[in-house]
Amino acid sequence: MALFSSSILSFSTLFLFMLGIASAQLSSNFYSSSCPTALSIIRGTVNTAVSKEKRMGASLLRLHFHDCFVNGCDASVLLDDTINFTGEKTAMPNANSLRGYEVIDTIKSQLEKQCPGVVSCADILAVAARDSVVKLGGTTWTVPLGRRDATTASFVDANKNLPSPSLNLSDLISAFRKKGFTAPEMVTLSGGHTIGQVQCKVIRDRIYNETNIDPNFAASIKKNCPRPVGVGDTNLSSLDQTTRVFDNTYFKDLVNKKGLMHSDQQLFNGGSTNSRVNTYSQNSAKFFSDFGCAMIKMGNLSPLTGSKGEIRTNCRKTN
Ligand code: HEM
Ligand SMILES: *[C@@H]1O[C@H](CO)[C@@H](O)[C@H](O)[C@H]1NC(C)=O
Ligand SMILES: *[C@@H]1O[C@H](CO)[C@@H](O)[C@H](O)[C@H]1NC(C)=O
Ligand SMILES: *[C@@H]1O[C@H](CO)[C@@H](O)[C@H](O)[C@H]1NC(C)=O
Ligand SMILES: *[C@@H]1O[C@H](CO)[C@@H](O)[C@H](O)[C@H]1NC(C)=O
Repeated sequence: MALFSSSILSFSTLFLFMLGIASAQLSSNFYSSSCPTALSIIRGTVNTAVSKEKRMGASLLRLHFHDCFVNGCDASVLLDDTINFTGEKTAMPNANSLRGYEVIDTIKSQLEKQCPGVVSCADILAVAARDSVVKLGGTTWTVPLGRRDATTASFVDANKNLPSPSLNLSDLISAFRKKGFTAPEMVTLSGGHTIGQVQCKVIRDRIYNETNIDPNFAASIKKNCPRPVGVGDTNLSSLDQTTRVFDNTYFKDLVNKKGLMHSDQQLFNGGSTNSRVNTYSQNSAKFFSDFGCAMIKMGNLSPLTGSKGEIRTNCRKTN
């Protein structure tokens, strides 16, 4: 009898142990019984939003990046400020820049009708990023799921952990190394700049003051981005020459000294990442497959799983 109960004990200990391991892992079929329509609902709304405005695909991809690099992929980026809470939305890299929140709200309210309290905002961000890339003609990957949502956010960490466009190559490499990425992976993920736009104030120093830039290219961007600080600050320029298509043109642009942000051109400025940029500029299939792997790795940054965090019913506030 003693033997019997101790083996029950050790069996249940083993079981709990395995459950612990399992809950720390994301899995692509996480919602297959709890919300079988989750993925098609997300895809449908992303496709509608991106058809209406191509740039939205870029904005949704960036949202996932800005979520994951600040204390993990936990939808902390989506929490609105309140009188007694300052979240990440007003941090420097996000304020008057990050967008797409309304699309996430639409997806969330549809999911709450279909499967209340089941699908996390953090998973919505990860899937919407993938679906955006697909919709804009890029690659696809299978998104591991089962993240839960944070009940906190960090203004300070958003300012600290998101890389600034004024960084040089060695600082870009260390910013990504802190998150577990190699220099080549940093180059791969920067390929996200094959879609979307940037504000004049971010690129002014580069187009007016830098020398590693194609002069005709600089001249064309200057037309829409006047030199005086404060004039046309929010005017937009395309991050690469085919900004509505997810392709490898971003890397071709870098090779041609047509990187738009200082940080972009740093990847091809005679340093250690030159060869990787060259490779991607000539081999879009390699960029695509590496990008999928790097996005899965980014999506695995410190997710909340098991009983940690919560499933928000409104992505903008804790339950
Ligand atoms: C390597 C370091 C990076 C830096 C310094 C950086 C910086 C920036 C900045 C300053 C903007 C323009 C913001 C504005 O003008 O309002 C931007 C836009 C964007 N970034 Fe990055 N970024 C980096 C990496 C990434 C990564 C890893 C991704 C995704 C995988 C990404 C995706 C995007 C997208 C898609 C846009 C355009 C967004 C839109 O049009 O709404 N970026 N980035
Ligand atoms: C913050 O303020 C709201 C009212 O605006 C209140 O309901 C909530 O309990 C407060 N939270 C904390 C942590 O003080
Ligand atoms: C990169 O920038 C940092 C901070 O501005 C500086 O300390 C460092 O020397 C720079 N590195 C190179 C290689 O230019
Ligand atoms: C460019 O460099 C000059 C001289 O260092 C500086 O005064 C100016 O503010 C910089 N930026 C622009 C956009 O001209
Ligand atoms: C850019 O800024 C200038 C100066 O403010 C303005 O005249 C121009 O209309 C802007 N261009 C666009 C496309 O918004």
